[in-house]
Amino acid sequence: MTSEAPAIARPTQDGSRVPFELFTRQDVFDREQETIFRGPVWNYVALEAEIPQPCDFKTSFVGDTPIIVSRAEDGSLHAFVNRCAHRGATVQRQACGNVRQHRCVYHQWAYNARGELVGVPYRRGVAGMGGYAADFDPKEHGLQKLRVASHKGVIFATFSPGTAPLEDYLDTPLIEAIDRLFSRPVKVLGHMRQRVRGNWKLYAENTRDPYHAALLHGFHATFGLYRTNQKRKGGADRARAHSTGVTYGDDWRQASMGNVEQDKVVAGYSLADPSLLEGRPDFNDGVTVQITSVFPGLVVQQIMNTLATRQIRPKAPDDFELYWTYFGYQDDDAEMTNTRLKQANLVGPAGLISMEDSEAIELIQRAIVRDGREDSFLEFGGLNADLDKDRTGEATIRAFWRYYAGLMGPSPIAAEP
Ligand code: FES
Ligand SMILES: [Fe+2]
Repeated sequence: MTSEAPAIARPTQDGSRVPFELFTRQDVFDREQETIFRGPVWNYVALEAEIPQPCDFKTSFVGDTPIIVSRAEDGSLHAFVNRCAHRGATVQRQACGNVRQHRCVYHQWAYNARGELVGVPYRRGVAGMGGYAADFDPKEHGLQKLRVASHKGVIFATFSPGTAPLEDYLDTPLIEAIDRLFSRPVKVLGHMRQRVRGNWKLYAENTRDPYHAALLHGFHATFGLYRTNQKRKGGADRARAHSTGVTYGDDWRQASMGNVEQDKVVAGYSLADPSLLEGRPDFNDGVTVQITSVFPGLVVQQIMNTLATRQIRPKAPDDFELYWTYFGYQDDDAEMTNTRLKQANLVGPAGLISMEDSEAIELIQRAIVRDGREDSFLEFGGLNADLDKDRTGEATIRAFWRYYAGLMGPSPIAAEP
């Protein structure tokens, strides 16, 4: 007797109901790796500023596939799977560095900065034994290559030959959002990593969810970085895969300004070190928060003077790593760099305004394991909300699910709205 797993459920066509099993099932996770992360999408993998010199490299991920992002001798960018073409071992085990050859520790096969096989020990054998046949061609045994594209120093990779050009994939509002933060040469200030015991899509939802920002994050509301009644503006690509939004902030020192009754303003709180929020604007547009989410796994943030990319690295249905790269500008003075480093306390694993996000995700993951055919409810803002105008509701999350369902393909038990 065989027992087949039940077919995968789908979100409703309007994206307003999402079966919880999409966050828990291994077969869903496996299909996502094939049809999404290895499908027709551009995956963020690194910043050019992390690999500025010839032969610089950084190890990264596309979905759960380990890759190496590398700059060749001539300055060109490359990405290839970090899995030896001999017997499959991880080749490069360092997080980053500068090497002319990536050498696999197991039998010392060596690959250059383009992922091409350039060294095979005992290729001709030893004392007439071992070795490879005369027709062994190293060109046929390089590391598996991905297509690479960079926009303003933000590097993306794709497995799929069919992925649209990067600028078409991102589309205008997203390009403008990225250009705003990458208009000047950047320098990397550091990294943070955190492991979240939840499904990667819960984080994709979280960064498209302004509804929670002043309700979950007391620091946001109390110090005026984000309140529900603040002016904001947003945009999305034509396909509605991505989302970008800006918030025009109050002066945080006026704690009573613009409070909304249900925002989580904590009375009587003050900062022991007010210099935490004493930055100076990077741009003359009044924007204090800009959150840009690029499908499937990139978030680009400006929160006051804190600039960072966040890469979502899925590991299992209930496990992902969040990888933060903090940056500033090459022409920052020492005071500005200090401000950015100080404000880095706002975000990251223990960030004053971001530690609650991973907790909220884990609260969901723990509660849904046995109720896969129950679903989440996403109707805030109304089902007909204009995605470009509604910047407080769940319209961008519903759009995420519609795009996601389109990539995952039909299922025999597709639910109707
Ligand atoms: S597995 Fe890499 S050289 Fe053998
Ligand atoms: Fe949040």
